[in-house]
Amino acid sequence: MSRRIAANTVTGSYGLSGDDEVTRLRLRERVGELEARLVELEGAEKKRLQVENELRESQKLYRALIETAFAGIGITDVEENLTFANPALGDIMGYGVDELIGINLSRFVEGEEYNRYQELTEQRLQGFRNAYETRVRRRDGSLINVLISGSPLADEDGEFIGVLTVVFDITELRRAEQELERNKRAYTDQLEAMVRERTNQLEEAQAKLIQSAKLAAVGQLAAGVAHEINNPVGVLLMKLKFLLSVAKRENLTAKAMATLDIAVEQAGRIADIVQDLLNFSRTPTDRPQSLNLNERIHSSLRLSHRLLTDRRIDLHLDLCEELPSVLGDPVEFEQVLINLLNNAVEAMADGGELHLASHAEAGQVVISLRDTGEGIEAEDLGSIFDPFFTTKNFGEGTGLGLSISYGIVQKMGGSIEVESELGSGAVFHIRLPGEGA
Ligand SMILES: Nc1ncnc2c1ncn2[C@@H]1O[C@H](COP(=O)(O)OP(=O)(O)OP(=O)(O)O)[C@@H](O)[C@H]1O
Ligand SMILES: [Mg+2]
Repeated sequence: MSRRIAANTVTGSYGLSGDDEVTRLRLRERVGELEARLVELEGAEKKRLQVENELRESQKLYRALIETAFAGIGITDVEENLTFANPALGDIMGYGVDELIGINLSRFVEGEEYNRYQELTEQRLQGFRNAYETRVRRRDGSLINVLISGSPLADEDGEFIGVLTVVFDITELRRAEQELERNKRAYTDQLEAMVRERTNQLEEAQAKLIQSAKLAAVGQLAAGVAHEINNPVGVLLMKLKFLLSVAKRENLTAKAMATLDIAVEQAGRIADIVQDLLNFSRTPTDRPQSLNLNERIHSSLRLSHRLLTDRRIDLHLDLCEELPSVLGDPVEFEQVLINLLNNAVEAMADGGELHLASHAEAGQVVISLRDTGEGIEAEDLGSIFDPFFTTKNFGEGTGLGLSISYGIVQKMGGSIEVESELGSGAVFHIRLPGEGA
């Protein structure tokens, strides 16, 4: 734009008339004016270009904002028909942006939400801005939770022309909240169940303690009775033996002799049992003795003999005669054997076989007790030596037998192990170091 008029190109005034001079001056003045106007116009043009540029930039910024916004943005006319929608609104509702144009907002709301929607629309028409949470139906039929804010739009004269609506999809948020709530509830339930279970366990343990106290009392009673019987039985046996010797001399009938023999034998059995009971209830000494385990086995079997025959259990004994002796308390060791025997008997409610064996192995004595009873469940195998662990009915077992046995064998420097499968019996091995090994 450099249409410059050279004002001084017409120079020199030789031979000009007075009129010419006036015209020349006017011309120059006019040219000056035009030049100034031109400069002014150039400035205005520059300004316009700058404003245009800024406008374009800010339009670009707003478009980018609206197009990339996470929130769905829509503009509706006075009848709430969409006249503008950004891509996010399309995504939220499951439509293409172009498809949304012209759709009435009420299309997305239904049921109870519709009444509320109408109330809010009324507010917006009156120029109030509102924000609320609702559920809307997407094109695919699914219901989603949305947070909506609606701001009324007005023209320059303040006339209502529509609403700017911003929509957030908060379905995931609500789902996560519900999940959290569910987890919280599940956790509380779990905690309550645990507390209940622990309380039950405590109550059971308490009942078991009472039971074992009762057992101890019964044990004491048995010891007292045994003590009382011990002397009369001794006397009875002595007198019977005397009678037998007299009878032999007096030539009694064979039948009478046989009866006397049986009487002596049975009295002998009573004396043995009384002795075993006395041994059993005696407080164990802390000083270990040299024990012949085969003898202890026989002694324990005498005590359990009735139990085995009552239950129709066949006993198979396979004892090694050349067993090294072991160190321990005879009473305590018998207690171990009796506990194992009792368990085996209790596991064979309908009879069965009991194999009791002893052998020496690398300086150790191994005693094995195998039954053909119900066996032990795999998940219980790790717990049966725990104090108070029992699968027996209330009042039938305290769950102390194996834990006491375990403690005794451990004190003797040995170990006790179990092998079993549910339904196919159980075998317990006791290993003890041979004396001097
Ligand atoms: N021979 C076995 N066969 C099957 N299960 C056994 C055998 N021995 C022990 N058990 C299991 O081990 C559990 C614990 O035995 P333990 O002797 O310690 O207690 P209990 O026999 O239940 O009660 P208690 O001996 O105090 O009267 C038993 O309840 C039973 O389930
Ligand atoms: Mg037991």
